[in-house]
Amino acid sequence: MSTMERTSRIPGFYKLTVEERLRIVAEFAGLSEEEVELLRRYAALDRDTANRMIENVIGTFQLPLGIAVNFLINGRDYMVPMVIEEPSVVAAASNAARMTREGGGVFAQSTESLMIGQIQLVGIKDPYAARLEVLRNREEILAIANEQDPVLVNLGGGAKDLEARVIETRLGPMLIVHLIVDVRDAMGANAVNTMAEAVAPRLASITGGRYRLRIISNLADKRLVRAWTRIPPEAVGGREVAEGIVEAWAFADADPYRAATHNKGIMNGVDAVVIATGNDWRAVEAGAHAYACRFGAYKPLSTWEIDEKGNLVGGLEMPLAVGIVGGATRTNPLARICLKILGVKTARELAEVIGAVGLVQNLAALRALAAEGIQAGHMSLHAKNIAIMAGAVGDEIDQVAEIMVREKCIRLDRAKEILEKLRRERERR
Ligand code: MEV
Repeated sequence: MSTMERTSRIPGFYKLTVEERLRIVAEFAGLSEEEVELLRRYAALDRDTANRMIENVIGTFQLPLGIAVNFLINGRDYMVPMVIEEPSVVAAASNAARMTREGGGVFAQSTESLMIGQIQLVGIKDPYAARLEVLRNREEILAIANEQDPVLVNLGGGAKDLEARVIETRLGPMLIVHLIVDVRDAMGANAVNTMAEAVAPRLASITGGRYRLRIISNLADKRLVRAWTRIPPEAVGGREVAEGIVEAWAFADADPYRAATHNKGIMNGVDAVVIATGNDWRAVEAGAHAYACRFGAYKPLSTWEIDEKGNLVGGLEMPLAVGIVGGATRTNPLARICLKILGVKTARELAEVIGAVGLVQNLAALRALAAEGIQAGHMSLHAKNIAIMAGAVGDEIDQVAEIMVREKCIRLDRAKEILEKLRRERERR
């Protein structure tokens, strides 16, 4: 097929088999047989399961799954599965988790699993009166919502409360109703969206307006996790390093350019566990960053200070909408295994572990930045990646990486030179 004929307009693509789709994509993109073979290679997430999970599947995509060790959270030991492409994150988490043990580990606590469903009501003449009318009909609206999910209600969950806010918009006032739903061990989007859709017509008739959006809010500020740790300064490398960590936090607190990177470091840990357990990391990301600027300026999600005894004290608070039932937490067999490795019994326990990992990951990053700088730790894994890119295999990877680290020159061209030299020497032997 020439470039001129190429089209991505393919009616009924979704009705084709995985193999048929793969053929079309291969032709479109000029994939080689080897590349097609790689796409055909399935692992624990098999083709039929993947094909049922999303639309238009042509394969699965793998990322490394590592285990962070040394985590002591609320007095319990955890092995933490992390799915991430970035070198050093798992090692850094394990290393910083070991440091927190000196102070008894990390402690974490979570609120109830309360999610917010938003219903947007427009075209209301008297929005403030309508607001009160909605609240006056609270019980009836909650009952309509709860009829949608008797299983959740039986588990002690369901719609628990209503809030109504008049907001000023560019198109005039709107009445926004919040349905507060206890989603128990689920992430909750499905349950909340179904309930929001179910109550919307009644809200429209109560208010005399029209409903538009009916959808969960990812600013899950009623589903928070808090994690904290208190560590003797020697555990992080001494008083000077501890002070450096606090100064790094103060920098982030005062400067959104730094706060974004500070929080990115936290999300390195958070996302890796969220993904490993089959949860929706976009939802968690959206919630985290919206929460970080809830006071109008973008702030770090964690705090670091030194107490009167000289201990380094860290804390983190963020929304964490994660589940252990439903969605990919169940359909992806690897997520099920990761949940088993974690051994968490409830969604709240999972959120607590993830909050603790976020805090520890932040500690690892700030400690490295305040002490030796981040590149020293990154160097060796980065060098290994470059060695692989240069074509090194097996033992060659470590050998090439070691030489580049020693030379402090981690570049693809240098990796290729070293590799060639190593191979020539081996041939001569
Ligand atoms: C890199 O993935 C994360 C860091 O940049 C976080 C930070 O700067 O705090 C090291």
